[in-house]
Amino acid sequence: MGSFVASSSLTYCVAVLIFAVFCDGGTTSPFVRKIWPSVAMPFDSDVFALPLGYNAPQQVHITQGDHVGKAVIVSWVTPDEPGSNKVHYWSEKDHKKKKYSEDTVVTSYKYYNYTSGYIHHCTIKDLEPDTKYHYVVGSGHVRRQFWFVTPPEVGPDVPYTFGLIGDLGQTHDSNVTLTHYEQNPYNPKAVLYVGDLSYADDHPLHNSLRWDSWGRFVERSVAYQHWIWVSGNHEIDYCPEIGEYTPFKPYLHRYEVPYRESNSTSPLWYSIKRASAYIIVLSSYSAYAIYTPQYQWLKEELPKVNRSETPWLIVLMHTPMYNSYNYHYMEGESMRVVFEPWFVEHKVDVVIAGHVHAYERTERISNIAYNITNGLATPVRDPNAPVYITIGDGGNLEGIANNMTEPQPDYSAYREASFGHAIFDIKNRTHAYYAWNRNDDGTAAEADSLWFHNRYWYPDEEGENGNSRKRTINKMDQNCLIFQSWCP
Ligand SMILES: [Fe+2]
Repeated sequence: MGSFVASSSLTYCVAVLIFAVFCDGGTTSPFVRKIWPSVAMPFDSDVFALPLGYNAPQQVHITQGDHVGKAVIVSWVTPDEPGSNKVHYWSEKDHKKKKYSEDTVVTSYKYYNYTSGYIHHCTIKDLEPDTKYHYVVGSGHVRRQFWFVTPPEVGPDVPYTFGLIGDLGQTHDSNVTLTHYEQNPYNPKAVLYVGDLSYADDHPLHNSLRWDSWGRFVERSVAYQHWIWVSGNHEIDYCPEIGEYTPFKPYLHRYEVPYRESNSTSPLWYSIKRASAYIIVLSSYSAYAIYTPQYQWLKEELPKVNRSETPWLIVLMHTPMYNSYNYHYMEGESMRVVFEPWFVEHKVDVVIAGHVHAYERTERISNIAYNITNGLATPVRDPNAPVYITIGDGGNLEGIANNMTEPQPDYSAYREASFGHAIFDIKNRTHAYYAWNRNDDGTAAEADSLWFHNRYWYPDEEGENGNSRKRTINKMDQNCLIFQSWCP
């Protein structure tokens, strides 16, 4: 059985290699994944297990709590009564200086016939950079202890590894994706999560118990790592048929983000700095036309990015602006028309989206010349443009998107109908290594990869099809002579 799998993998790799070598345009992977039933794991699955004890804190999760990474928001839910609202925490460097944070907001909400537990959001401030902290939520016999590592001080050559996950849901495929992410050999430190969390709204009456089970499912990662949240369409939960008229009600109660720190007026769009990256989160399902709050915020936000402090400019959103699948085709077009010229002007390095339940990476292209009458409506190669990555392949219950537009557009560098996750591994101000793993290969094989060249500090083309690793590494050798902060 093992040798059969090995020879099958070898045959597949050779086939992909031949395909990649002899095709001049982008690559449509011939890989066909095993089709598993796309259903949510049952409530009695071990991944949803309740912590032991009356009113024990559950669904523990953390995210960045300020603009630069010196604060953390710790969130948890108590099911029966509010319980303790304190977080007890201490640095691994100094066990004796244990502190309590009481900067906690406790909230709850009703959604149709469901009443949430008590949702706690506690902001811990003034943390040391690059330091391991232990923390405890709950009290008495239901104390639960976790830990996290704060990001390093913000700076231009600070290495940092992000994980990229989208549209995860809570199926068996979701569990495989999360497990592979946890096993990723690059040891990513935080997740850029590009929207669509629980898929509760795919269940009858938007079954809110699925928000709770999702929170328990991902706790094993997000209680220990910061996940940076982006809202997707499955967070809207707008359902007039059952009297639910307030968009994003469950999501906004459960997932707190530091939006005020970046002068945003909404938790649906905001920014953070983390190590050498400046991360901008946008909302595909909030108004973004001229004069709207999100438009005005982004217009003022982009010029603030100091590439000498944070060279890597990363934009997250849910709906992709470039997508060559027949699912959600052109849904991101209206936002593209509004925001793409700014992305090119400000040399955004990469735009990461989800929504389409498959994988795709583009070349560096833009489509900003069109003015209704000139006919220039075809994307063109543009060294100032971002790479667009669609990674809505977490494995939710809606299944894989396997119907692609044909032929593959020139702008599409690689696309594949598989579930998976990726890492974005920043080495220094000029280079970052990006790799996508399909679930079917675990973490053993990188199905798609690219050495990113920073648009501000090293705006050379990455190579033919964006993936000429040999050529790129040669350039990196030259670059090492200049910056000497990291060498392959
Ligand atoms: Fe979506």
